[in-house]
Amino acid sequence: MSPTLGRSTIQNISTQEITANPFSINLYGETASEIDDLIDSVRVHGILVALVVVADPLGWTLISGHRRLECARALGMNDVPCEVRTIPDDVSRRRAILEYNRQRRKTFSQLMREADALEQILGQEALSRRNANLRQNLPDRRNSDNRQGRTDDQIARSIGLGGKDIYRQARAIWTMALTGDSRACSGVSQLDSGTKTVHAAYKDLRRRGQFGVGFRPTPYDVWAFRHDRAFGVPHPGSIPPAIVAHALHYYTEVGDLVVDPTAGGGTTLDVCQSMGRTCLAYDLNPVRPEILTHDIRQGFPAEASGASLIFCDPPYHTMLAEKYEPGGLAHADLQEWCAFLEGLGRDAMATLKSGGYIALLLANQTEKDVPAGQGYIDHVFLGYGALQAAGFMPERRISCPMDGSYLPQHVRRARVEGRMLGQVRDLIVMRKPLEISQSSGSPPANS
Ligand SMILES: C[S@@+](CC[C@H](N)C(=O)[O-])C[C@H]1O[C@@H](n2cnc3c(N)ncnc32)[C@H](O)[C@@H]1O
Repeated sequence: MSPTLGRSTIQNISTQEITANPFSINLYGETASEIDDLIDSVRVHGILVALVVVADPLGWTLISGHRRLECARALGMNDVPCEVRTIPDDVSRRRAILEYNRQRRKTFSQLMREADALEQILGQEALSRRNANLRQNLPDRRNSDNRQGRTDDQIARSIGLGGKDIYRQARAIWTMALTGDSRACSGVSQLDSGTKTVHAAYKDLRRRGQFGVGFRPTPYDVWAFRHDRAFGVPHPGSIPPAIVAHALHYYTEVGDLVVDPTAGGGTTLDVCQSMGRTCLAYDLNPVRPEILTHDIRQGFPAEASGASLIFCDPPYHTMLAEKYEPGGLAHADLQEWCAFLEGLGRDAMATLKSGGYIALLLANQTEKDVPAGQGYIDHVFLGYGALQAAGFMPERRISCPMDGSYLPQHVRRARVEGRMLGQVRDLIVMRKPLEISQSSGSPPANS
């Protein structure tokens, strides 16, 4: 007999008298939505394995069998076979729930909630041992160097997550996700769905520090950077985060407000967060809760007023249109797209603080999706013209070549057909002129 689980007897108990265990619900979630695969078996065969309950003053509390109980209730069964255990204290009951669930296939979140519960239980047990030792004048081993290592190892083995090193990486991801960090939350969802390993998710998070203290920006105006999944969530139009990091470095200060009106997977949001800038991110079809729904053709929302930098990476008319939702700029024709640029210029001028910047990332459209009769569309030239017409001053045109966007077969075909493949993308940075104060004739304080 397990020392934790106590003696047991089997008896039938009314389904109405059994209460679900809040600790189990906290760990594994509500069961009502998860009984589809079990209910047919219970309908045909009845409950084959007894539920496990403990007696409480108000009835019976369930230790194991939440899904079986849900099926029994859904099928209108009055009572179910139960193994009645004597498990006196709360800590032992929680341990028992963890043990009974050990063989279940669990998501990363469930495993980490188990780990949280185990940490708490082990902490309470260590405290009791320490107090007992103190009462007997035995040495206090609280500061033993490898105690934490042993605890981590014990928890890792208990929840089946390898050894202490992987467990520590998992804990780092989990702890950051609990603070609401979007990249960590996205890592947890990928771990829950089994599409990422703990180590890969951890490496993503570590790379998030690369634009913080010690960041060495390139001093050149060619920004040939690679994509990095540590920033932004997967998105068809995602850009290398170092482009955003360099724009923030050269054109903003820590604490400044940055606005991204076509935020996509939120690369700008994540880079701003890691570089201490405040970011407002909008998109017509947001893919993350921190990105607000807004159509930039309606102008900027009022809260964006006074921004230091607008960073905009819009889709181009027809280019990659099939990857974007209908109704957005990717589906606009050239005339509508140029009208969007003109509106963006006017609205950015009204929204930016005096001396603020707009950075517009544009690629030229070459062989892909060029409308009939046209050989090439110079989006950068069009963007430059629209911003200048709105009153912006040129600041810099930075070359951001695209990394690896062609497959080998595209390159072979271009060679055979004697065509050039477009690799040109530019970040055009324009400055709103300083507003001269009418009373003093000198620039305002924030310029
Ligand atoms: C090229 S993607 C941006 C990618 C982003 N820089 C990233 O790294 O993930 C362009 C985004 O603009 C959005 N969009 C298209 N039309 C829009 C509109 N009228 N207003 C706001 N967003 C729009 C699309 O939904 C898409 O997510």
